[in-house]
Amino acid sequence: MRNVLITGGAGFIGSNFVRHLLRADPEIRLVTLDALTYAGSLENLNDLPDPVRHTFVKGDICDQALVEELLRIHRIDTLVHFAAETHVDRSIWGPTPFIQTNVIGTFTLLEAVNHLWLGKGRTFDGPARFHHVSTDEVYGALSPSDPPVSETAPYAPSSPYAASKAASDHLVRAYARTYGLPVTITNCSNNYGPYQFPEKLIPLTILNALEGKPVPVYGDGQQVRDWLYVEDHCRAIYRVLQAGRLGETYHVGGSNQPTNLEVVREICSILDERRPGRKHADLIQMVGDRPGHDRRYAMDTRRIENELGWQPQHDLLAGLRETTDWYLNHPAWVEALRKGSDYQAWLERNYAHRWEEL
Ligand code: NAD
Ligand code: TYD
Repeated sequence: MRNVLITGGAGFIGSNFVRHLLRADPEIRLVTLDALTYAGSLENLNDLPDPVRHTFVKGDICDQALVEELLRIHRIDTLVHFAAETHVDRSIWGPTPFIQTNVIGTFTLLEAVNHLWLGKGRTFDGPARFHHVSTDEVYGALSPSDPPVSETAPYAPSSPYAASKAASDHLVRAYARTYGLPVTITNCSNNYGPYQFPEKLIPLTILNALEGKPVPVYGDGQQVRDWLYVEDHCRAIYRVLQAGRLGETYHVGGSNQPTNLEVVREICSILDERRPGRKHADLIQMVGDRPGHDRRYAMDTRRIENELGWQPQHDLLAGLRETTDWYLNHPAWVEALRKGSDYQAWLERNYAHRWEEL
């Protein structure tokens, strides 16, 4: 692994991974390919540890000619694929970009690496790897008493987002099996931490509560997610790149099972300490539910723990404190992101009707 192409490296997990890899390996060179959608920002890549080893290219993963040019010019031996449309609520309002980027985009990348690593246009001879970053949402909802799913569980995606990620996982496996493409896949649980766009539950809660705005909790708030600090996810992907078996899938998760309401209340009590004078939990409002809302996700992570020695290093309470402090200490980042995106329009679209349903 010398020359790595990161798709979606200006997004939340991608930008954390770029920093992680630059720190972890002083020899490695990185190229980020990112379309800078509303969710991506160069602000996320401002503070790289060794920026001369990183090249940013603005472009779409659906542009096969561009992807092939980057693979060729930079002699890419490893592609780590983060780029995606990622917000379930947005996929319910408008699934088209999810199909375009998550399905067609992944297909385009597979075609490009197949052509340049294995096919007639071959320009690269050494060992190579296509690593696909996926989600626990492909397995669909579990009931409170179901055991965690293993890597061989059947897929049952609920939302257009989850279905598009499931389709991309199937394509990656099909290219491995049919053409012998060297691939690995990680399915990870809900991430949180620095640089997450404030449309997702944890940063939205932190910022709304900080600003004295209502904190919306969908439905009865008893849905369960397994939360993982983003740095632990980055370490897991790095371990898989180093030692993961080709063709294999690894589950990555934090092995915790709080309800959404518990997570939101915990953030409010952290803010009570950091910004005394208000009881932030008073801002919590139960609002109309998400259509098709998955009740619970839980994955069995023993494969990556036993084979690769990976374990999460942040527990949820410590991670929520670090994350809250990061948002409190980065008001300029928050403002830049809100200005550079359709953030207000999104809040209006996703929440106006929910307040009305109260
Ligand atoms: P994000 O929404 O923060 O960032 C996505 C990035 O992809 C953005 O920088 C965006 O500009 C870029 N992008 C979107 N469409 C593109 C296109 N057509 N061409 C090039 N770039 C494009 O996402 P994230 O939360 O960092 O998630 C990264 C990956 O991890 C996704 O594949 C997601 O499915 C997966 N994942 C996320 C979570 C989570 O909790 N966030 C959990 C498990 C898996
Ligand atoms: P989210 O952060 O959107 O991640 P995902 O849907 O991929 O799990 O949502 C996490 C959980 O929080 C999910 O059960 C939906 C819920 N949620 C709320 O209750 N209120 C909100 O405003 C948001 C954005 C999410």
